[in-house]
Amino acid sequence: MKMKMNVMDTISQRVVTLRRDLEAHNRAYYEQDAPTVSDAEYDALFRELQALEREHPELQSPDSPTRRVGGRPLDAFAQITHAVPMLSIQTETDTEASGADHFDARVRKELELPDVAVSLANEIEYLAELKFDGLAVSLRYEQGVLVQGATRGDGVTGEDVTQNLKTVRDIPLCLQGAPERIPPLLEVRGEAYMRRDDLARYNQKAIAKGEKPLVNPRNGAAGSIRQLDPAIARSRPLRFFAYGVGAIEGWTLPATHGELLIALAAFGFPVCEHRAVVHGARALSDFHERMGALRPQLPFDIDGVVYKVNSLELQRRLGFRSREPRWAVAHKYPAEEARTKVEAIEVQVGRTGAITPVARLQPVFVGGVTVTNATLHNEDEVHRKDVRVGDTVIVRRAGDVIPEVARVALEARPEGTEIFELPKICPECGSHVVREEGGAIVRCAGGLVCPAQVKGALIHFASRRAMDIEGLGDKLVEQLVDSDLIKTPADLYTLTAPELAALERMGEKSADNRINAIATSKDSTLARFIFALGIRNVGETTAKDLARYFGKLDALRNADSEALLKVPDVGPIVAESIRDFFAEAHNQEVIARLMEAGVHWAEGEGQADAPAGALAGKVFVITGTLPTLKRDEAKALIEAAGGKASGSVSKKTDYVVAGEEAGSKLEKARELGVKVIDEAGLLQLVALQS
Ligand code: IVH
Repeated sequence: MKMKMNVMDTISQRVVTLRRDLEAHNRAYYEQDAPTVSDAEYDALFRELQALEREHPELQSPDSPTRRVGGRPLDAFAQITHAVPMLSIQTETDTEASGADHFDARVRKELELPDVAVSLANEIEYLAELKFDGLAVSLRYEQGVLVQGATRGDGVTGEDVTQNLKTVRDIPLCLQGAPERIPPLLEVRGEAYMRRDDLARYNQKAIAKGEKPLVNPRNGAAGSIRQLDPAIARSRPLRFFAYGVGAIEGWTLPATHGELLIALAAFGFPVCEHRAVVHGARALSDFHERMGALRPQLPFDIDGVVYKVNSLELQRRLGFRSREPRWAVAHKYPAEEARTKVEAIEVQVGRTGAITPVARLQPVFVGGVTVTNATLHNEDEVHRKDVRVGDTVIVRRAGDVIPEVARVALEARPEGTEIFELPKICPECGSHVVREEGGAIVRCAGGLVCPAQVKGALIHFASRRAMDIEGLGDKLVEQLVDSDLIKTPADLYTLTAPELAALERMGEKSADNRINAIATSKDSTLARFIFALGIRNVGETTAKDLARYFGKLDALRNADSEALLKVPDVGPIVAESIRDFFAEAHNQEVIARLMEAGVHWAEGEGQADAPAGALAGKVFVITGTLPTLKRDEAKALIEAAGGKASGSVSKKTDYVVAGEEAGSKLEKARELGVKVIDEAGLLQLVALQS
């Protein structure tokens, strides 16, 4: 017995040592950026620990690094309600005065202080930090153990992404520090993000394996955290910075935000070193400028800086306005720009035949990614900006927006350049091109003889929001069309595994997987099916509306204009597109073949009861850039509250939510007398009525 105890002692000591060493290696790797062991050595230690824990389940512990592997894939994320809402933050932009001046003046006014400080001693103390471009998350520690990780969601409810966040190696699984100092409850808030170099390394490997690369660090971070399979999240190089707290029990907050960050660092959280305690507006502006200069050299993306009133007591006094604190503000940087050369201007033919000019550029690094193409939108745009082959241009990338050519550096234009003209015939199929009446869009008239349109239609049909056929991406569709295996979506369902396996670079296993994915997609919904058909002017939202309204495909197919116009948000143009689509014999035939192949959904599924919620039945149009919510987030917020987000303003619109640089939609709203609100107004509506 004594003997056994001794053996157990050594084993448990070994387990403790392994855990300590592995976490130290993690910290060296992630925080100090100075790996202390090779990946192979790390893996060997990790496997040893895994084996010991498997053999001695009594030694398992929630803070073991082995717990970072996550569990089984989920079907969907559970919704969680934040104990303390996750706030959004107001954005200051520079006008004649600096954004920092605006903010400082507002804070002084709220605190009933004189407009300007008479001496340094009267200046307000701020903590200035970076605005990380990732995904905001909340980490809940009970008795010092990480028990839940959640996304911000709409600020009130988020998604439970615990499994994925546990795979982020610089998020502590257990709070560090003396046991008597560990609070019973502590929620830590911060940003999950990806470094640019990590992303580049990940992408190199992904491309080598034939997988899709990540578009940019922000999408990479957000996409990884919202993966249902934690194994995928674990394979992504995610990191974390702490910048705040949520619910707390049994812990006394320090006096300032700066001290709070230090305390969080002591609990084991990475806190970004680029921060400063400063006094007054001038010092805030200086920080903005300094960080702006540092920005290109930072290993991660930022889109601005954040100013916070340092005293937590003053923060409490200042409080909130709707869902934004009065004590914090984001001061953004303009979109990153870079100069490069236009090597060629090519045209792309889209799914609807729309012909888009694209500038092929000398590769240039801007906004965290290497840009080689930039859209020129349409013929009018090219002429307005007068972009020519051989020109030096300034390209701009903001967030996840497709890079665009901002302007031409005319002084650098070489001699002999020519004004760009769109081709008169489709480069894909040789059909003639037509310019839509009154519009800027030029289309190929080839329809289904144009392989670009056929491919586009198939890619759309298979896409995630349509029939969701996994693994049927651009490349495969291209191969299938080029080898004459398919011409219409219906042909997908008669494909056989041997036919697929005969394609280049396609093994038997992947062929089987694709065939299974195609078969699985047969079990669909009416809304997805309508969207998948690719009817012009019928996007995902309209497809949902049509499904809800008509309930049955036949009812939609036979609907006349009058019936169609009764559907919320369907106007004469959309109605005509729908009628035209179903009037086409070819389309009817494809639909009939899809049904024969077994594509189905629950009849009448769309006709659910009227949506409930704060915004039930209300139609919103979002326009311009909102200060904090991304367009998708605003849309999700509206839909979650039972409202509808629509793309165009009409008399049926209840509210237009306008942000910065709102254009024609805002004008239209004013013309029609539609109510116009800002983001705060939207949040208020949701909050008031929920
Ligand atoms: S503070 C006071 N600090 O900005 C309001 N937010 O929060 C609580 N963000 O999407 C947030 N860097 O992901 C705060 N240093 C920082 C931040 C930061 C980035 C993001 C956050 C969220 C948005 C609003």
